[in-house]
Amino acid sequence: MFRTEICEILGIEYPIILGGMIWVGKSELVGAVSEAGGLGLLGAGGMSPQQIAEELENVRQQTGKPFGVNVPLMRPDSEEMIKVSIQAGASVITTSSGSPKRFTKMIQDHGCRVMHVVANVSFARKCAVAGVDVIAAEGYEAGGHNGADEITTMALIPQVVDVVDVPVVAAGGIAGGRGFVAALALGAKGVQMGTRFLATEESAAHANVKAAVVQMQDDGTCVTGRTTIGPTRAIKNRLTAKIIAAEKEGASREELFEMIGEGRSAKACVEGDCEDGSVYCGQIGGNIRTIKSAREVIEEVIAEARAVVESFPSLAQA
Ligand SMILES: Cc1cc2nc3c(=O)[nH]c(=O)nc-3n(C[C@H](O)[C@H](O)[C@H](O)COP(=O)(O)O)c2cc1C
Repeated sequence: MFRTEICEILGIEYPIILGGMIWVGKSELVGAVSEAGGLGLLGAGGMSPQQIAEELENVRQQTGKPFGVNVPLMRPDSEEMIKVSIQAGASVITTSSGSPKRFTKMIQDHGCRVMHVVANVSFARKCAVAGVDVIAAEGYEAGGHNGADEITTMALIPQVVDVVDVPVVAAGGIAGGRGFVAALALGAKGVQMGTRFLATEESAAHANVKAAVVQMQDDGTCVTGRTTIGPTRAIKNRLTAKIIAAEKEGASREELFEMIGEGRSAKACVEGDCEDGSVYCGQIGGNIRTIKSAREVIEEVIAEARAVVESFPSLAQA
């Protein structure tokens, strides 16, 4: 049940992907997700090529199953990051924040799969033309950097699957079996989850961040950065209040950059400062109440999805 073409393409048991998460998706989480039958992706955004190689060596100690690396293409050394990842055993490279065309052929020539993350239909079309193996379509409810067009997962997925032949994975707002089934119903062949895996035992996020996720409500996140680093969804706190106030008062780009600053997400995720750091998190955090192991998360998604699907015949008769 739930074996889709994504499982064949990526060599995994369940079509569940750990979204690449800077500071969060390190070897322990990557290995745990892959070992449990999903696809673990190293969140390499804050890592040097040397660190990537070390982390992947640790992943290989934990699992013999496939794993991948998320490489944000805005990094000037993204080509080196990709080469090191492939050398260190990654079989999937997911690229984001840049042109899907840039490295697709090079990655595939090394026998690896390419997944590119998009937030609108026109980028999905570009991915299809570029020949990527999988498209991750991410809605506006997702944690971290969002698309500028503010399209939600519910609206984005059917529009993307209708225009591309490439299998699509849905991301944004999915943390359990109900969201998983909804994504498949919309035409996706699998899901990518970030926020749910942020609040797991193996996540490298600071304990304060995990606590903030399990305590937040449905309206606990907001988006800032539209005029500077791009829309970014994070838990509301002193920092986001300060940025929103400055944005309303018409602060200049430079002033806002100064406020958002470098390393705000590390301040939260690594140092645990959930007031003056940026706590990347999706809206679905309001539905997450306990910190679990990555394996429990995956098993519960599948069990809940099965129960949902099994309830459909009775719904059809009602
Ligand atoms: C803490 C955090 C960090 C993230 N970092 C990255 C990143 O480095 N690169 C990336 O492409 N996406 C990043 N994302 C997005 C995730 O990979 C994923 O697509 C998203 O979280 C899915 O939506 P959800 O949060 O509703 O599950 C991040 C998300 C979170 C919550």
